[in-house]
Amino acid sequence: MTKTSVSASISVKDAEIAKIVLMPGDPLRAKHVAERYLETPVCFNTVRNMLGYTGTYKGKKISVMGSGMGIPSMGLYATELYTQFDVDAIIRIGSAGGLVDEVHMRDVVIAMAASSNSSYGDAFGLPGHLTPVANYGMLANAVESAQQLGVHAKVGPVYTSDHFYYPTTEVNDKARELGHLAVEMETAGLYWTAAACHKKALSILTISDHIYTGEALSAEDRQESFHEMMEVALETAWR
Ligand code: ADE
Repeated sequence: MTKTSVSASISVKDAEIAKIVLMPGDPLRAKHVAERYLETPVCFNTVRNMLGYTGTYKGKKISVMGSGMGIPSMGLYATELYTQFDVDAIIRIGSAGGLVDEVHMRDVVIAMAASSNSSYGDAFGLPGHLTPVANYGMLANAVESAQQLGVHAKVGPVYTSDHFYYPTTEVNDKARELGHLAVEMETAGLYWTAAACHKKALSILTISDHIYTGEALSAEDRQESFHEMMEVALETAWR
């Protein structure tokens, strides 16, 4: 990565992007993560307010940047980071709605794979369906990190939806019946992009609401549960 470098959506001046990037959906969350968890964070991107920062965690250089919401936004930023800024690995850090009974408010979910109602993956040209999967090494690291931190992370498939508001409950009902732990809106886009770019990706999520119990976290609770996910993500990135 050069000191001054520009892609369609990212403009880096007098800063660097690390080989590994954490990506929350919300760019203000990226700012918060950088300020709370990284040492000496430097802002590298302000284009479209999609804030990105690079700092260090236990001496290792790590970046954090917003992905925006939905598969197209995640796909766009992940593609530019992988192909134009030499990024090796991206960890999505986000929230998700619980689907199955075994998943509860504040749980940390590590997404092994991501089914989706999006056709985004079709563009990569594989006859049939390109399966969006996590990088196994990163997944194994995250599981070990969670165990060492005493975080009871649940590992399984999630459902990446193009819709936050559905006219009916059918899609979530089916995703639940087929064993998806949670629903969110970006993971499949990240995993497809990583496959297409021959790079690594993992999605670590916090359950912020539950589709079938109707529970939802308060802003305060979100902050607390978010901390466990952050610790797992940072340890995974550091290993
Ligand atoms: N992210 C957090 N909660 C969600 C939900 N219920 N549906 C989709 N994405 C989400």
